[in-house]
Amino acid sequence: MAAIPEGFRYLPGHLDPQAQADLVAELRRLVAAAPLYRPTMPKSGRPFSVRMTNAGSHGWFADHAGYRYLARHPKTGRPWPAIPGALLDLWRTVSGYPADPECCLLNLYAPEARMGLHRDADEETFAAPVVSLSLGDSAVFRIGAAERRGPTTSLKLHSGDVMILAGPARLAYHGIDRVLGGSSRLLPDGGRINVTLRRVTRPPEEDA
Ligand code: SIN
Ligand code: FE2
Repeated sequence: MAAIPEGFRYLPGHLDPQAQADLVAELRRLVAAAPLYRPTMPKSGRPFSVRMTNAGSHGWFADHAGYRYLARHPKTGRPWPAIPGALLDLWRTVSGYPADPECCLLNLYAPEARMGLHRDADEETFAAPVVSLSLGDSAVFRIGAAERRGPTTSLKLHSGDVMILAGPARLAYHGIDRVLGGSSRLLPDGGRINVTLRRVTRPPEEDA
């Protein structure tokens, strides 16, 4: 097994079942206001298997024009909803970073969905960590090094688990190999939700 990069933190079961259920109710309201869409790979035009939406001032999006952040939902044209308070609380508790996140990306995985190895590198600052939460079915997560061909390690993420990519791990390659269908009863239709919190712009606090 390869070494996990320094700065990677894993908090199993950080959210208890009630907090998970409350958050799912909140995320349903988010999806009603900002419907899920399926991004496409800029070069190949291939659709992602994951569907996405966002909250916050910056929403992550991908299509033929590239990977980028948008101030408005690509279909409705409306600003993204506010980041749910429970997720701001989570960030303030675990990030160790002086400014709030600007992007709350919601990834919805149907049982057959996956996410290829990639780095989160579309932000202006990498001093802020990436904070990521799993809800619903468990999944096999893979994390490697800052180089694409470096060694990787895999671990299972379960509902309520929180993961933090900070320091050297901030730019580590990572992805989801598969979702373990039927492993949780949190979501009545099955599947998995990942919520990823990120700072996008460099705040004045970084110079303080
Ligand atoms: C991502 O890296 O964007 C998602 C990771 C996950 O689903 O846990
Ligand atoms: Fe990612």
